[in-house]
Amino acid sequence: MQRTDLAFACTMNEMTTATGSKLIELKRKMETREARIGIIGMGYVGLPLVLLFSGERFRVTGFDIAKDKVKTLNEGGSYIVRILPDAIQKAQKTGFRATADYAEIEQMDAVIICVPTPLDEHHEPDLSYVTETVKSIAPHIHDGQLIVLESTTYPGTTEEIVAPLLESGNPRGLKIARAGDETGVHLAFSPEREDPGNDTVARHDIPKVVGGCGHVSAELAAAMYGTIFRRVVRVSSPAVAEMTKLLENIYRCVNIALVNELKQLSMKMGIDIHEVIEAAKTKPFGFQAFYPGPGLGGHCIPIDPFYLSWKAREYDFRTRFIELAGEVNTAMPYFVIEQIAKGLNTHAKPVNGAKILVLGLAYKRDIDDLRESPSLTIIELLRDKGAIVAYNDPYFPTVGQGRHYALNMTNTPLENLGQYDAVVIVTDHSSYNYREIVEQSQLVVDTRNATKGIDSLKIVRC
Ligand SMILES: NC(=O)c1ccc[n+]([C@@H]2O[C@H](COP(=O)([O-])OP(=O)(O)OC[C@H]3O[C@@H](n4cnc5c(N)ncnc54)[C@H](O)[C@@H]3O)[C@@H](O)[C@H]2O)c1
Repeated sequence: MQRTDLAFACTMNEMTTATGSKLIELKRKMETREARIGIIGMGYVGLPLVLLFSGERFRVTGFDIAKDKVKTLNEGGSYIVRILPDAIQKAQKTGFRATADYAEIEQMDAVIICVPTPLDEHHEPDLSYVTETVKSIAPHIHDGQLIVLESTTYPGTTEEIVAPLLESGNPRGLKIARAGDETGVHLAFSPEREDPGNDTVARHDIPKVVGGCGHVSAELAAAMYGTIFRRVVRVSSPAVAEMTKLLENIYRCVNIALVNELKQLSMKMGIDIHEVIEAAKTKPFGFQAFYPGPGLGGHCIPIDPFYLSWKAREYDFRTRFIELAGEVNTAMPYFVIEQIAKGLNTHAKPVNGAKILVLGLAYKRDIDDLRESPSLTIIELLRDKGAIVAYNDPYFPTVGQGRHYALNMTNTPLENLGQYDAVVIVTDHSSYNYREIVEQSQLVVDTRNATKGIDSLKIVRC
């Protein structure tokens, strides 16, 4: 990949005087692709990153504590639907392999951390995956190595949590390089900005934001990412980069809550909110379209804003927008249940005992990720009310137990739809034929506007 607008602050000569030969060597290795890249966390973020670096001929090592993932990858397989085994096998040709052995960190020139950052049962940041990872790598880090945290988190994590753990956990007494330090371990934060399932922008066209603990760390991180991203945006500190990612996700969360609220009002007023959004969208400035739905899902939007709310308390500050948006969005599955009950009522049926098919488990269209998916809550709420619930989702043959659910269900074939009292569209996968679904069903509750353009009294749009 050609860097198109990555401006290097230092020329090679300046690097010589400012940062010493180890850094020149690392930068050279990035440019020649000799640098060895270690990526920790072979999940939805880490594995695609492996492919980007491998595609640029880097020799990449993937680290994961999940031994089954390591085994699958080393056998040339994949466990993420949109990543085909072919892509893993191609990466293997440029030296990709996976391991659970942290001792191999020592051989890496750069290490990128992509482990989960969920909320705990008290709705507070659970940084344990990050801290466990950092404690595990600390004994194996070396002078001049670049370490980048990509997991989404609150501002201050890189400098207040990661840096001290790296310093206290390595037996050689290595320090984090700060300001213009010539020696030490180079630490930076760079948020992952991918939008799974959105293929309108290629991954390498999403500008990469980078903030380093010192300017040399930022320089090295920019040099590394400049090999795979067309544009690298350098900011002045890890905290600015951490806050940038949160601003982006809070912006989405708040705007989705706004349209979810306006949808409920519009329904009462007999106005189609989707028609309104399509009209508003024609304004060439000052408006960005967001769409209502059955509630938030995924590992980012329902979670990340609360990382900031939690941190804000340290400053005796209340993030009211985040809390209000969380309230509105969390209430959406309950609103869907009300609409299902109303729909059944028109057929003189109670929810208790009703046969209901939920279409789509994934938190959004055409992906195989059900983390925080509203469909899980909707199924549980329906079951609590005595409904007999089945689901169909081409991406999930079974669904068991997770952090907030215990469903233990098997995928139901999409046939004989007339047997259900209601079919509820929760995820609008593009493989569904919505016209046929409406034709064959008694009642369709559509939470995604998937039946747009289909005129039928059987449809309840909500
Ligand atoms: N999924 C997304 O679309 C997305 C987008 C932007 C940012 N993010 C952020 O990226 C981070 C990673 O998310 P993800 O979706 O890839 O998570 P994931 O659950 O898909 O993958 C995380 C991987 O890390 C592994 N892991 C956990 N602890 C580990 C440890 N101590 N050592 C090694 N491996 C370990 C897990 O086994 C898993 O394979 C999160 O902070 C998330 O908020 C995710």
